[in-house]
Amino acid sequence: MNKISNDIELAADFLRQGELVGIPTETVYGLAANALDSKSVIKIFEAKKRPSFDPLIVHISGLEELDKYALIPFALCKTLAQKFWPGPLTLVLPKKSIIPDEVTSGLDTVGIRVPAHAITLELLKKLEFPLAAPSANPFGYISPTRPDHVQDQLGNELALILDGGDSEYGVESTIIEVLSETSVRVLRWGGLDEQLLKSLKIEVTSNTMSSSNPIAPGMLLSHYAPRKPFYTGVLTELLQIHAGKKIGVIQYLPNVIEDKASIQYHALTTNGDLKEASHHLFALMRQLDQSDIDVIIAEFVPDRGLGKAINDRLRRASFPSLKGPNDEA
Ligand code: TXA
Ligand code: MG
Repeated sequence: MNKISNDIELAADFLRQGELVGIPTETVYGLAANALDSKSVIKIFEAKKRPSFDPLIVHISGLEELDKYALIPFALCKTLAQKFWPGPLTLVLPKKSIIPDEVTSGLDTVGIRVPAHAITLELLKKLEFPLAAPSANPFGYISPTRPDHVQDQLGNELALILDGGDSEYGVESTIIEVLSETSVRVLRWGGLDEQLLKSLKIEVTSNTMSSSNPIAPGMLLSHYAPRKPFYTGVLTELLQIHAGKKIGVIQYLPNVIEDKASIQYHALTTNGDLKEASHHLFALMRQLDQSDIDVIIAEFVPDRGLGKAINDRLRRASFPSLKGPNDEA
């Protein structure tokens, strides 16, 4: 049954009844539930087959709500929120007890953000509670950037999917821990890029690569992955390695390397715009995963601005193969 709808009131009613609703955001689509109700939150983990150690992000309607759910240890937290909310920034803050342990996987911190999407902001304003929402994909798979992506994979698990069109950024939010009045640590690069953060004249460090015992639970090495074999590296070399197969190629810019019917080329952007590239990345990975090709290969994009988030997703989605940006020599 098609559950895609424009009915914000109906979505609010389902959420009040403890059901799951797909919500559009500027980053990716979320799978939302009442963040203050453990039973509803547990449904999210079941629907996604998500391990319980991977905490959820709480979505609120505005900065004025923040005090209800978290402590604000540094003025810099508020400065960041004022500057970048609504927008693709998640702040990790000490949680207040009103947030159930199920949301935070037992951590004493909670990830919070105000999404920049008119429909979801309207929904949040109607509701009496905030929304816990991970990306609306089965655990480990590519995140959804369109309502039909959510319908295809989780249509049976939720009550309704609010249609908010294509997600603007196409990659998730940047997750930040504030360390002092002048320094932050990035736990995941996403829609908010390094230049914007550094414009605040603060020290920015990052700790985004972790293994099966991550400091930010959920920052697992393998994530965002298609089901087809997926390799990243130097395209000319990868084309040789996979010669004879039907290959889907994800490129930064359009460039036909070998003109063969068995090779399909797809560029993330025609003019080097990294936001256009991130906007297309997940939808393209999904499209190739559902096509009849044998293997997907991709090259890294310039490792600056939104390129950091794109390269992070490419790295995590692919099998370790050829060297990419920031790989250790
Ligand atoms: O853009 C986004 O952030 C999207 C949209 C729907 O808002 N949401 C999203 O959620 O990407 P999810 O669940 O796919 O990724 C959330 C990640 C977790 O895997 C975890 O790494 C991190 O956020 N996280 C959440 N709470 C945390 C906490 N208290 N401390 C450290 N990391 C946390
Ligand atoms: Mg996710």
